[in-house]
Amino acid sequence: MFVCICNGVTDSQIRQAAANGCREVSELTMRTGCGATCGSCMDMAAGLLDAYHARAASPVIDLPLIASAA
Ligand code: FES
Repeated sequence: MFVCICNGVTDSQIRQAAANGCREVSELTMRTGCGATCGSCMDMAAGLLDAYHARAASPVIDLPLIASAA
């Protein structure tokens, strides 16, 4: 999905930038152009960066399923 219409930046590109160490929107703007024109995408871009890093900080642990005793 396009997050930044002005510069054609997608959510996938933002997640990829986060995976490559991008933590701040200002850095994201330098890397991708996201937010460099009208700026209306900045809140969503910041949310995506925050969500990526929050998820990375607390990895999901796969627990085995317990079969029901029926
Ligand atoms: S929508 Fe991103 S700069 Fe306009």
